[in-house]
Amino acid sequence: MDRNILIAPSILSADFTRLHEQIQLMEKAGARMLHLDVMDGHFVPNITFGPMVVESINRMTDLFLDVHLMIEEPARYAEAFIKAGADRLLVHIEVLEDPRPLLARIRGLNSQAGLVLNPETPFEKVEPFLGDIDCLLVMSVHPGFGGQKFMPEVLPKLTNARTLRELNGGYWVIEIDGGIDDKTAALAVEHGADVLVAGNAIFGADDPIDAFGRLRLSAELAGEQAGSSRGYIRTDEGFL
Ligand code: DX5
Ligand code: ZN
Repeated sequence: MDRNILIAPSILSADFTRLHEQIQLMEKAGARMLHLDVMDGHFVPNITFGPMVVESINRMTDLFLDVHLMIEEPARYAEAFIKAGADRLLVHIEVLEDPRPLLARIRGLNSQAGLVLNPETPFEKVEPFLGDIDCLLVMSVHPGFGGQKFMPEVLPKLTNARTLRELNGGYWVIEIDGGIDDKTAALAVEHGADVLVAGNAIFGADDPIDAFGRLRLSAELAGEQAGSSRGYIRTDEGFL
């Protein structure tokens, strides 16, 4: 089976004066999800937007909303983001001593739950919780800003994740975020990623539709070479 890799455009690099238009471009390009980066100025040195903007985006589109919380107190705001329309909430392991209660609460509110690990956080930190998640997001840049350089040293985390998933089973997807372009997309897929977040490579391009297509092609070619997988979105209706 060919691998069906998903590209998740990150609107962090989009032109917010015409966000609706930019999202429509992604729908036209064939995207099935959007990645939304929430930053609080504490966990990361940058501030973006909160539930109100997520809610507006949710009204603009039917795309799956992958909401990445780069905030110090995810437990405090989880419900607000889910009510605003998050289909998946991604929380950082670095701010959670025991992520299980929050992951369960997120799932209980009918959202998917994911764990995120920063480049310097060892894979072992998330290992005990792989049975409690729908997604593992591996950061390939220091979170906070778009347009940074991909850190190849995180690639072994993808391989570890895939090996463990094959060994123990599980339906969680492996996602990577930061510095994804045509070349690093292929690298990430070869090492085991199912979902690739891309901001600058898409919205920084002259033609975002074309850039999305090129990224997807490069990821799919690498996927075909790397063999079978599951690049899917889990929804209430099953796997897309
Ligand atoms: C970085 C964010 C990313 C960012 C990726 O903190 O989590 O989602 O938008 O942007 P690029 O693809 O430009 O590295
Ligand atoms: Zn992100």
